[in-house]
Amino acid sequence: METSKRGQWGSSFGFLMASIGSAIGLGNLWGFPYKMGKTGGFAFLIIYLILVALVGIVLMLGEFALGRKTGKGAGGAYAALAKKYSFIGYMAVISPFLILAFYAVLGGMVLRYCLGFLVQIFGFDGFAGQGSSFFRWLLYSDSSMLLFLVLFMACTMVIVMGGIKGGIEKFSKAVMPALGVILVVIIVFVAIQPGAIEGYKFMFQPDFSLFTEPGSFFEVLKTASGQMFFSLSVAMGINITFGSYLDKKKNLQRNAVMVPLFDTLFALLAGMMILPACAAFGEDYAQGPGLLFASMQKVFLDGMGGAAGNIMGFLFYFLVFIAAITSSIALLEVLTAAVVDRQLDHGKEPRRKKTALVFAILIFLIGIPVALDALGSGGATIKAPYELLGLTPDSPGYAMWNDCWLDFYDMITEGVLMPLGALLMSLLLGWVMPNLVKDECEASGHKFKGAAYFKFCFRFVIPVVMVIVLATQIQSFFL
Ligand code: TRP
Repeated sequence: METSKRGQWGSSFGFLMASIGSAIGLGNLWGFPYKMGKTGGFAFLIIYLILVALVGIVLMLGEFALGRKTGKGAGGAYAALAKKYSFIGYMAVISPFLILAFYAVLGGMVLRYCLGFLVQIFGFDGFAGQGSSFFRWLLYSDSSMLLFLVLFMACTMVIVMGGIKGGIEKFSKAVMPALGVILVVIIVFVAIQPGAIEGYKFMFQPDFSLFTEPGSFFEVLKTASGQMFFSLSVAMGINITFGSYLDKKKNLQRNAVMVPLFDTLFALLAGMMILPACAAFGEDYAQGPGLLFASMQKVFLDGMGGAAGNIMGFLFYFLVFIAAITSSIALLEVLTAAVVDRQLDHGKEPRRKKTALVFAILIFLIGIPVALDALGSGGATIKAPYELLGLTPDSPGYAMWNDCWLDFYDMITEGVLMPLGALLMSLLLGWVMPNLVKDECEASGHKFKGAAYFKFCFRFVIPVVMVIVLATQIQSFFL
């Protein structure tokens, strides 16, 4: 039987946990707070929440339905509808590929912090004598960056080789609740530090000044939309693959709402931990990708200090590491599943292990520039894209090449491929095959709720928002 060769989820709970586990990761803990910090707190938050409701949940349901209906991963699902659509599926698979390349670099850094705190518990210096300036030191330490990139990829690969039930599902069940608990503990600790209140004001105090400047409004919209794709893991084929492993009796729509709900909750928790910590410990909100590392280092080393700081630091980074791993295994799984499906189609034995290994190596290779460019801080072993081209921040086209390789990969995926994929998918599901999602949801005997809302979003809201996002991105290439 084809299904048993492909594998299937053990239970509905397992599926939900694996989906939530894949959605919650560095996007929530690292990406959301730093993007909110960079683009203006409250305004970002509001736009983000609206996008999740109008675009995220709707696309997620569409992807689950496509996957379960066709029984295929991203590449195969569109081809199964009609040969001429197969390019949408292949386009979707490029995103996980590029994302995993920088995800694994960040995941490796998280692992390094985790080990740093672990050895500090036993009285060794885990941060090369650097204390809170360790982040910068690490960025320029080529051997550490590469070593931890390799370790992170190796962990990911070993789990994916275990297959669907044995590997991914088992791993995901225990972690999310524990992560939630530790976030709350740290939030409470940060909340009682003097000055933390400014951080909450930044996030929650209504401030509509941004909405009067169209230029920055579109910039925030673009950033929030990219963050939404990344964090919910939509528009990159992942949920198609996950849906294809789901049996026909399960309630699709409930899952499509629960996953974004939990994902957004964790992003908010991360924001409420990091931004008030910045306010209390004097870190700049707008410092970019290093925000999680810099602010938390101050909390654990300077704020809590001593043994308590080391133990909390270890626990925190350990859970972030696991959250990142549950996402990276899903990313590698999409790629692996796409190839395994093709092998099955051609009547061959699926070669899951070999496929996962080949992808892991490729991803390591394209991750190297991200690991060695010191996030574009200058003077690193590998030059950032703008340095290679000899551009300065005021040169035309600077924005297209971005500050560092991480941003560059991010721009191609979040800024171009994912909005484009979402646009095509919503047109397909809204206009060409308007009954597909409804029929598939009702196939399990559950009533499809809010049909008019989903239809309206597929037909109008998503296409319009995606066109605006794409136009903003393309325009930035010329500035
Ligand atoms: N959503 C994940 C996070 O927030 C990252 C991610 C992006 C992802 N695309 C994915 C995870 C695809 C699994 C599959 O960290």
